Amino acid sequence: MTHQYPSLSTEQKQELASIAQRIVAPGKGILAADESTGTMGKRLENIKVENTEENRRYFRDLLFSVDPSISECVGGVIFFHETLYQKSDKGVLFPKVIKDKGIVVGIKVDKGTAGLTGTDGETTTQGLDGLSERCAQYKKDGVDFAKWRCVLKISDGCPTALAIAENANVLARYASICQQNGLVPIVEPEILPDGAHDLKRCQYVTEKVLAATYKAMSDHHVYLEGTLLKPNMVMAGQACPKKFTPTEVAMATVTALRRTVPSAVPGICFLSGGQSEEEASVHLSAINQVPLHRPWKLTFSYGRALQASALAAWKGLPANKQAAQEAFCSRAKINGLASKGEYKPTGQADQSSMQSLFTASYVY
Ligand code: 13P
Repeated sequence: MTHQYPSLSTEQKQELASIAQRIVAPGKGILAADESTGTMGKRLENIKVENTEENRRYFRDLLFSVDPSISECVGGVIFFHETLYQKSDKGVLFPKVIKDKGIVVGIKVDKGTAGLTGTDGETTTQGLDGLSERCAQYKKDGVDFAKWRCVLKISDGCPTALAIAENANVLARYASICQQNGLVPIVEPEILPDGAHDLKRCQYVTEKVLAATYKAMSDHHVYLEGTLLKPNMVMAGQACPKKFTPTEVAMATVTALRRTVPSAVPGICFLSGGQSEEEASVHLSAINQVPLHRPWKLTFSYGRALQASALAAWKGLPANKQAAQEAFCSRAKINGLASKGEYKPTGQADQSSMQSLFTASYVY
């Protein structure tokens, strides 16, 4: 006989649900600024800036110190551990800088991927050991949500049943540990864009992965109202010769989500996954125009697609700080509009926002 022992009090559930709703309030999405030190190094290398702790701090300060009106389109910011304990130029801890703007502070808690033996390079994600203690400490340090990224890939034989089951289970286990510690888990089963597969194949795989993820979430008694999903959009592989329109991408994405994501989930915050800034905004707006019932908020949790223009404008020079901040705010506002289906491209987007941000087998 199945039986659920009580796991969260009414107050705990209310707190989790209200955090999740604040993050995805109308017109808002998430800035994913949780690049690990290594990943940040690659970003900085592109603009010929040395990967020092101070340069990483400086760039994050540049993003976090923009005008407070940013909170009209950004409801949450995801930090990397190092950033959580750094301070702004004015000597204020970054979590306070963000909270003072009315934005919710999040943290990446996974410890990266590890190979699944006997598969064609498939992975699971590590970080469950000590996770409860880390979450409890982060909560004390002002954090209210977490992120954990799992990675799946599409090829003739992938993803395997093993990879789907293992990643669904580890995401659900992570989600339940976060909720016990008062953190809203962002559940991220990213299907990589690498490959020549078409739109239909990505939709099929996305449906299988999400269905398995929500079965595992139910098995682990995760309180869905206090979670957010961070999926890939349904898109053809990056090497697919056939191109699909934003309307086709949007319809395939919403169809896959409607078939698999319970309506109790308050918000779905897409990752940008190597799309150009402009493409990620156009697709999000098209998704919010699909003429089907969409019971959740559909918004952004972009890393590359919110920071590329800002990095390109900054180039590591203090004199460019304001231009970089303007580039970031402009992208955030565009994505805020897209999350309401209201972004209409002017056709005048600048060069850097049109550039593909794809990297093969992306590691975050
Ligand atoms: P991208 O938007 O750059 O894909 O990254 C978002 C993210 O947080 C991946 O875990």
